Amino acid sequence: MTIQTVATTPFAGQRPGTSGLRKKVTEFQQPGYLENFVEAIFLTLGDCSGRTLVLGGDGRYFNRDAIQTILHMAAAHGVARMLVGRGGILSTPAVSCVIRKHGAFGGIVLSASHNPGGPDGDFGIKYNIENGGPAPEKVTEAIFAHTQTLSAYRISDAPPVNLDEIGTTSLEGMQVEVIDPVADYAELMGRLFDFDAIRALFKRGFTMKFDGMSAVSGPYARAIIEGVLGAPAGTVINGEPLEDFGGHHPDPNPVNAAELVALMNGPDAPDFGAASDGDGDRNMIVGRGIAVTPSDSLAIIAANATLAPGYAAGIKGIARSMPTSTAADRVAEALGISCFETPTGWKYFGNLMDAGMVTLCGEESYGTGSSHVREKDGLWAVLFWLNLLAVTGKPVEQFVAEHWARFGRNYYSRHDYEAVDATAADAMMAALCAKLPKLAGQTLGGYRVALADDFVYTDPVDGSVASKQGVRIVMSDGSRIVFRLSGTGTEGATIRVYLERYEADPARHHLETQQALSGLVAIADGVSELRQRTGRQRPSVIT
Ligand code: G6P
Ligand code: ZN
Repeated sequence: MTIQTVATTPFAGQRPGTSGLRKKVTEFQQPGYLENFVEAIFLTLGDCSGRTLVLGGDGRYFNRDAIQTILHMAAAHGVARMLVGRGGILSTPAVSCVIRKHGAFGGIVLSASHNPGGPDGDFGIKYNIENGGPAPEKVTEAIFAHTQTLSAYRISDAPPVNLDEIGTTSLEGMQVEVIDPVADYAELMGRLFDFDAIRALFKRGFTMKFDGMSAVSGPYARAIIEGVLGAPAGTVINGEPLEDFGGHHPDPNPVNAAELVALMNGPDAPDFGAASDGDGDRNMIVGRGIAVTPSDSLAIIAANATLAPGYAAGIKGIARSMPTSTAADRVAEALGISCFETPTGWKYFGNLMDAGMVTLCGEESYGTGSSHVREKDGLWAVLFWLNLLAVTGKPVEQFVAEHWARFGRNYYSRHDYEAVDATAADAMMAALCAKLPKLAGQTLGGYRVALADDFVYTDPVDGSVASKQGVRIVMSDGSRIVFRLSGTGTEGATIRVYLERYEADPARHHLETQQALSGLVAIADGVSELRQRTGRQRPSVIT
């Protein structure tokens, strides 16, 4: 067994996006493609002697191959110890948890999150730093710079490591520790939530369906919800991680989890429904007849946080991504705490959490989490809701209605235009940006524009600046239209149009969402010329 130095040439396009490098599996399968990116990570990290790294993924196609490659490269770069989830499995929040708990130097997460899996699907890789969170831009940019200039990578030619048995082996002197992927995470959840109350809730006959979407959160949900919390077997559906996610699109939203939503709207609805995504960091919360928007979920968790033991002392602050509705801002105001508005991407929350400025974070893209780890956390959100339902005895529907009655309702929807011609999408955004200076003060479709800009974020902790983070048009009543190009798509460009309308009057809290937002939709179309410029007559996905 020796360490080989293999000559290579750079691949174009290895710049990490919103959440790491995501490409088609076929692109990753090109000889040297994954190796180059991993080499760039190690070149960025520098001397790895004495260091521990965590490694795991969502189990999608190519996960096992990639794990072996990375282990063999880590050994060649002198890493002291690698903690790997059994079977190569670790959900994204579990990687974050394990990094923090074991004081690791960082970790590598293999996932393309909610993007489809399988030989024709997507694969992804990202690096997380020692706080357990996604690497900040200066690190991802350094990785990218190395991908452009490297000329060789180093790798051990030792035989594959057995990933299926818990225990420690040695690879070129590097310790490979195969760990139970669930144990550390389950232990952390038990410290945050009132598991006794939730156990009692299930004993009283409370019913639930958790849809694992044949992705990574199944084993976690089974172990915790059915195992520790005593929910009946069958509570977790699609609980086995499959390499192609059983053909599901493991992105929990009312479109992809249509079956769950239909069940929750039907006569046999259980008390509570929930789903998670490919790598276990997203969540969807569903009550009888109502899918809770992620923006509302964040606001409701924040307003009731002290009901969970891990948050009994109160929350320090809230952060939300810019396109996420302002429902959480109203809660923060009532609690007398700060609410920060960051660009899209969980990485922007890291500094705020590390500095102790915020406890809860959320994104409209079905991401909710807290400072217990540095990733969003799907099952955590589900357990938080279970905790709220268990200690109050109120159903989801009542929680939501009471929240709106107290704070008002932020009607909210996102319209996605996927796989649009990238040149047309860029041109549309450029034309929109050019219009912005003249928009403020204008009246559009009965709304007065209070602010129109291309969002720029200055990190209050380190002063770093992120510009061009999405166009926002904010109306004088707080309603908003936001336009962004997605940073996670793998085909052409995806245009996201985010629509939000505030309604204080409880008598108008039960309109159909798209109807409630139709005025803003018309304004969005007019101002962006989206239809003319892209040739698309309607969104491909509405959530
Ligand atoms: C990932 C990131 C999130 C982000 C989401 C959508 O899940 O972790 O932070 O909100 O993708 O990003 P996009 O750029 O596609 O809107
Ligand atoms: Zn995800």
